[in-house]
Amino acid sequence: MSETAPRKRLYIKTYGCQMNVYDSERMADVLSPLGYGMTDSPEGADLVVLNTCHIREKATEKVYSELGKLKELRQAQAEAGGPRLGIVVAGCVAQAEGEEIMRRQPAVDLVVGPQAYHQLPELIARAHRARGERLAADFAPEEKFDALSTARRPTGVTAFLTVQEGCDKFCTFCVVPYTRGGEWSRPAEAVEAEARALAEKGVREVTLLGQNVNAYAGEGGLAGLVRQLAKIPGLDRIRYTTSHPRHMDDALIAAHGEVEELMPYLHLPVQSGSDRILRAMNRAHTAESYLRLIEKIRAARPDIAISGDFIVGFPGERDADFEATLQLVREVGHAGAFSFKYSRRPGTPAAAMPGQVAEAVKDERLARLNAVLEEQQMAFNAAQAGKALPVLFEKRGRHPGQLIGRSPYLQSVHVQAPDRLIGQIVTVKIEEAARNSLAGVLASTGELEPA
Ligand code: 5AD
Ligand code: SF4
Repeated sequence: MSETAPRKRLYIKTYGCQMNVYDSERMADVLSPLGYGMTDSPEGADLVVLNTCHIREKATEKVYSELGKLKELRQAQAEAGGPRLGIVVAGCVAQAEGEEIMRRQPAVDLVVGPQAYHQLPELIARAHRARGERLAADFAPEEKFDALSTARRPTGVTAFLTVQEGCDKFCTFCVVPYTRGGEWSRPAEAVEAEARALAEKGVREVTLLGQNVNAYAGEGGLAGLVRQLAKIPGLDRIRYTTSHPRHMDDALIAAHGEVEELMPYLHLPVQSGSDRILRAMNRAHTAESYLRLIEKIRAARPDIAISGDFIVGFPGERDADFEATLQLVREVGHAGAFSFKYSRRPGTPAAAMPGQVAEAVKDERLARLNAVLEEQQMAFNAAQAGKALPVLFEKRGRHPGQLIGRSPYLQSVHVQAPDRLIGQIVTVKIEEAARNSLAGVLASTGELEPA
C-alpha cells in the first residue's frame, strides 16, 4: 500500500540514549505505510517528530527551544504555500511533562509517550481529522513491541534490539524509574524472532538494549538470551547496553568467556568511586565491589573493553570523594566513558539533598575527570596499533574508496576497501590510532578470524 500512497516527508530528531534511536527507527517504520518517507532536515517536512530525553535539565530545555524554532518554520512554510508542518513530541519528556509541553508550546499537534508508538498512525490520523485534538496514551508494552517489530525494515548491517525497558533501581539522581516506569522484559521468543528476521535481512550485529538490560528477566536471563541468539545463522556479533553492576551475574560473566559472538565490550556505569556518594546515590554497590567485579569479568575475558558513566558534583561530593572517583578510574582503565555534571531533576530524592555543589566546582571536576578518561581512551586505542582485528564493515567513509567498520571493542575503523565488503567481517591490520578511531589496511578478504 505504500507504493500508491502519496509521499509525505517525515523528519525525526532524536535526543538521548540508544533506546530512543531504536524507537525513532520503529516510528519511521510504522509511519511508512501512511506514505511518510524520511528526510534529513525539518525544512519542507510534512511531519516533525522530536524524540526527547529527560535525563538532564539541558536535554529537556533543548526540546522547548527546538519547538520554538519549529513553530516559526511552520509559519514560514505556510506563508510560502508549503505543506502544513505537523509537530509531534515523543520520548521521555512527552511522558514526564506532556501537559506542560502543550501549555508551553500550543503549536504542538501531538504528545506521545514511549508506550504508544505503535498507535502513532492512528493518533496522527485522528489529530489530522480533529485539528487541535492532542493526545497522549499508554498501552501495554508487549502489544507495542509486537506491533512495532512486525513493521520493522532494517537498513544496515547492525541493528538495535530493545529487550527490556524501565528501571526499578531508583538511583536518587535519576528520572528514568519515573519516566520509563518499572522493569519489563520482552519474552525471549519474541526477541529471538525479531533477531532472526533481522539476520535474514542481512543484519550481522545486534545490540540488545534496555535501561537495565542485564536485569533481563525473560527465560534464561540475559546470559541465556545471548546464548540463544548466538545460534542464529548470520548473526555474528552481539552486544548489549546499558548494564547495572548489581545484575552482572556469574552466568553473564561466563557467557563473556564462552560465547564467541558476544563482543568484548562492556558498558558498566559506576557513577562514582566514593562509597559515601554511592550510598547517597542508592547504587547498592561500593567502589571495592565494583573493582572486584571488573576483576572477575576480566578473568573470564581478559581483553574486554570497559566503559562507564560518571557523575561529578552529586550533592555532598567533597574533594576527597572526587579524588576517590579519579582513583577508581585509574584502577579500571577505560576504553571510553561518558561523564556528566550532576543535574538537579525535580521530583528525584537528590534534588532535595543538602550540599548542592557549585557549578564552577562541577566544571572543574568534569574537566579533570575527562582529561584522565581521554588519556585512557587514547591509550586503549594506541594499544591496538600493529594488531590484526576482525572488522565488520558498515558503510562508506568520507574519503573515496574508504569504508568504516567496527572492531570487536566498538572502535570505528577506517580502511581503504571495496564496497562489496560492506556487511562482511574482515581482518584489518591496524596501523594508526586516534582518540576516536583507528585506521588500518586489509589483511585478508572474506575470512573471519576469531576476535
Ligand atoms: N545528572 C547527571 N547525570 C545523570 N545521569 C542520570 N541522571 C543524571 C542526572 N540527574 C547519567 C548517569 C546515567 C546516564 C545515562 O546519565 O550517569 O548512567
Ligand atoms: Fe537511572 Fe539508576 Fe535506573 Fe540507571 S539504574 S536508569 S541511573 S535509576
